[in-house]
Amino acid sequence: MPSFIGAIDQGTTSSRFLIFDKSGVVIASHQLEFPQYFPNVGWVEQNPNEILQSVTHAVEKTVAKFEAKGHSVADIKAIGITNQRETAVAWDRKTGQPLCNAIVWNDTRTKDVVHALADSHPSKDVNCIRDICGLPLTTYFTGVKLRWMLENVPAVKEAQDEGRLMVGTVDSWLIYNLTGGATNGGIHVTDVTNASRTMLMNIRDLKWSDELCSFFQVSREALPKIASSSEVYGHVADGPLKGVPIAGCLGDQQAATVGQKCFSPGEAKNTYGTGCFMIFNTGHELTFSDNGLLSTVAYQLGPDTKPVYALEGSIAVAGSAIKWLRDNMGLIQEAADIGRYASEVSNTGGVYFVTAFSGLFAPYWRDDARGCLIGLTQYANRNHICRATLEAICFQTRAILDAMNADSKQSLSVLKVDGGVTNSDVCMQLQADILGIEVVRPANIETTALGAAFAAGLAVKEWDSIDDIIGSQGDENVVFKPSVDANDRDGRYAKWNEAIKRSYGWA
Ligand code: G3P
Repeated sequence: MPSFIGAIDQGTTSSRFLIFDKSGVVIASHQLEFPQYFPNVGWVEQNPNEILQSVTHAVEKTVAKFEAKGHSVADIKAIGITNQRETAVAWDRKTGQPLCNAIVWNDTRTKDVVHALADSHPSKDVNCIRDICGLPLTTYFTGVKLRWMLENVPAVKEAQDEGRLMVGTVDSWLIYNLTGGATNGGIHVTDVTNASRTMLMNIRDLKWSDELCSFFQVSREALPKIASSSEVYGHVADGPLKGVPIAGCLGDQQAATVGQKCFSPGEAKNTYGTGCFMIFNTGHELTFSDNGLLSTVAYQLGPDTKPVYALEGSIAVAGSAIKWLRDNMGLIQEAADIGRYASEVSNTGGVYFVTAFSGLFAPYWRDDARGCLIGLTQYANRNHICRATLEAICFQTRAILDAMNADSKQSLSVLKVDGGVTNSDVCMQLQADILGIEVVRPANIETTALGAAFAAGLAVKEWDSIDDIIGSQGDENVVFKPSVDANDRDGRYAKWNEAIKRSYGWA
């Protein structure tokens, strides 16, 4: 009998449901975009009910395609969930309804909260709690967003005071609703990878930290239970997947790490989605960066297994810059056009585009930076700006790779890539040129969903072990090799670093 594993991939701009066979091949999938709201400069919100609806519709459509191919839902053995991380959701335990819009990971409204929190600590340092949670205080993580809600949304504060508050990242919101919500015994749970992005978990013992909960003034009772990334959390309560176990959960970047099979210390992957995130497996050892990278949990594939840690370099803006060229500037009609325009010219004509729309994340961590387009002349046209936009993603990746090489005291010789932007051959060639190492793109770039499916499949014994997963799928890769010399590469990177400095201090 064939068997299948499903994966919900709830990203920053779209939701997908995919069904994989045991060799990791996608049998059916459906993707839906959902709205984002920008009510003020730097604010990014989503409606939690719209997120949920986009997921349930994607499930319905995918299942219909799956059945149309002659398959049966009874053969879907489990589903996994992977999600945009750090986005904060608050809802009411009595009604199950959101108390306000979700504050999305790249929202920068919490800049003042961050500085006030750092000032309230005797050290006055944004790294004051890094030793406990692995993360610096920035606008990026969930804890500061929850603190903002508690200070600014009376309904959230009242719910906390009355013991009705439930909070979590998007995985928790989805699992709670898929397992029955307020009326049917919904389960409030998260996994260690998502919890490691909240600033509320002790990254050593993988438990909520009393010290951090009190620092952010978030009540422990409002938080989900922390579980491993691979175990049966509960069963789908309703809809076409009714009764199917939810058995895997990982933040999307950690899921891509599993999907790319980066199971050994020293292996790394870079995922180019809305943002761009490089994860470097450091094994069972928790490692702290001296170069602006985050310490995070990569995965824990089972409640009785040891967690695997990682260093992460996070870039806030990658695919979202391409979307911005399309939706805000009208420079391209479809995202895929960017590669065509960029390849019309052999260089950017001296144009650099620092896409600091949400400040700059790793390794710079400048919440005072804002986007700047620099080096413009009358010669510059759309093609140069498109090429400069792709180069911006690649230069930031170089900054992160340099930081990782410095932290790990070894040089990565190949970079495994995935995510929507990697469809662009031009971008991947620029990446190889700017890094000076090979860039390897797998045939299946749906590694995020695949990682969640692997985690779910492991929990229900569809795959017996990590070795079984490693052997599950052919690895047909496309390899991009560097084609420029070191002088060219380093000269352009030096100019990029000059451009970066011009973006500082603007906000
Ligand atoms: O940390 C934010 C990240 O999880 C967002 O991922 O795929 O929506 O760019 P993505």
